[in-house]
Amino acid sequence: MRLSRRSLLTGVALVGVGTFVARPLWNAIGGAAEPQPLRIPALLDARGQRNSLSLQVQAGNTELFPGRTSRTLGYNGSHLGPTLRVHRGDDVEIAVTNTLKEDTTVHWHGLLIPAELDGGPHQPIQPGTTWRPTLPIRQPAATLFYHPHVHGRTGEQVYRGLAGLLIITDDEEQALGLPSEYGVDDLPLVLQDRQFEDGRLVLPEGMMVTMQGRRGNTTLVNGTPDAVARVPGRLVRLRFVNGSNARIFDLSFDDGRVFHWIASEGGLLEASVEVRSLTLAPGERVEILVDFSDGRPVALETAPDTNFPMMMGPMGRTRNFVAEIFGAGNETVLRFEPAANDGKPSVVPGRLIARDRADASPAIKRRRFVLNMGMGMGGMMGGGMGSGGGMSINGRPFEMARIDERVQIGDTEIWEVTGEMMSHPFHIHGVQFEVLSRNGGQPVARDAGLRDTVLVQEPVELLVRFTQPAVKAPFMYHCHILEHEDNGMMGQFMTS
Ligand code: C2O
Ligand code: CU
Ligand code: CU
Repeated sequence: MRLSRRSLLTGVALVGVGTFVARPLWNAIGGAAEPQPLRIPALLDARGQRNSLSLQVQAGNTELFPGRTSRTLGYNGSHLGPTLRVHRGDDVEIAVTNTLKEDTTVHWHGLLIPAELDGGPHQPIQPGTTWRPTLPIRQPAATLFYHPHVHGRTGEQVYRGLAGLLIITDDEEQALGLPSEYGVDDLPLVLQDRQFEDGRLVLPEGMMVTMQGRRGNTTLVNGTPDAVARVPGRLVRLRFVNGSNARIFDLSFDDGRVFHWIASEGGLLEASVEVRSLTLAPGERVEILVDFSDGRPVALETAPDTNFPMMMGPMGRTRNFVAEIFGAGNETVLRFEPAANDGKPSVVPGRLIARDRADASPAIKRRRFVLNMGMGMGGMMGGGMGSGGGMSINGRPFEMARIDERVQIGDTEIWEVTGEMMSHPFHIHGVQFEVLSRNGGQPVARDAGLRDTVLVQEPVELLVRFTQPAVKAPFMYHCHILEHEDNGMMGQFMTS
């Protein structure tokens, strides 16, 4: 079967998404886009505030495109949130006040803390109230991500702007001398695709949106469309968070330059890895070092988005299909304009940190999870899959009152996870894991390091260490395509 672009788009429109086009900015604002300086979220350093921070969840208006106002949500502002920097060993109190007219939560994605502090769906913050968790920071330096996790409405709240970075630092990391001047040579970069019409943010809805996740025609970096970053002419550290609801980025530079991958979600790698591209799925973070000492402008690009459910046909994965629908070329994510070389040496440390490795002893407990998306095309078109679009794990859609798994604290287990119909970023709260195998073979390069989120379609085996108590409340595991999560592709576990 081969669909023309026209019939395909019509088909998509019929099931309610409208036509969305992955690339051009002119489509989003009805004119050529002006480059805008990259916005840098404010930095709240916990030690500078006696380890007591506050976040106000609020609604407001934001000019994401100049001169065009969008209704948005933010923390301590109208869109996105400040970067919180905390130090290993500290206990940090964070007062979160909800000024919205609906419940929200704040989840500290990647933080290893007891479940009742985790900010999942079991810790709702009602309108007009304040939640004050004290977070024990006990894990190594890393780039984490905070965002809402309210039952059934995570996707919409994140989409409208609730997301921020949580950076952990420690002495070991500081001793490495990595670039760490916030906003100068250490840049927070929240990548999000969003749908704009005439320069205003719109909220895509409908069955197709549930199936494929909310996507958009414009890539924002820290809320900036068509962003340009001025950077020093030396080694610069970039901390990426994929804060999209569903979009996977496949990042590289337009001059093909090599860069250095230094940290996964769990923090620094044992040694830096030279790469020319990196895949970043929703919920994932990476840190890289890029050498701008040649002073030449360069653009960070992404390959086209191809992660659609197989119902869009087996041609969904072919180059022709991608080229026909999305254009053959890459899309610019962020342009860099380096200053002239400032003479500071740009040395990439080879060794970063030592890690102890978990071993997979043969006696280890194994659990299997299949991320389900209904019954395929026939089932979907026949409407035979219930209100959630058939989203579930092991055939069971998420239920607040049902504990799916019980784990012993201190145990290491193998979780074997498979995704139906497309790639799903699978995330587990309160743990870090290593990828042991992918599709029965070795993990791919990008699977390296300690992680809390991993892209899954073909089966992966994860070696998971459970160290945190989930006694008063459960931890979640779910797909980080937020519309999948909201519609039931989530489960919960307790530890004891
Ligand atoms: Cu970033 Cu349960 O999520
Ligand atoms: Cu999480
Ligand atoms: Cu999914």
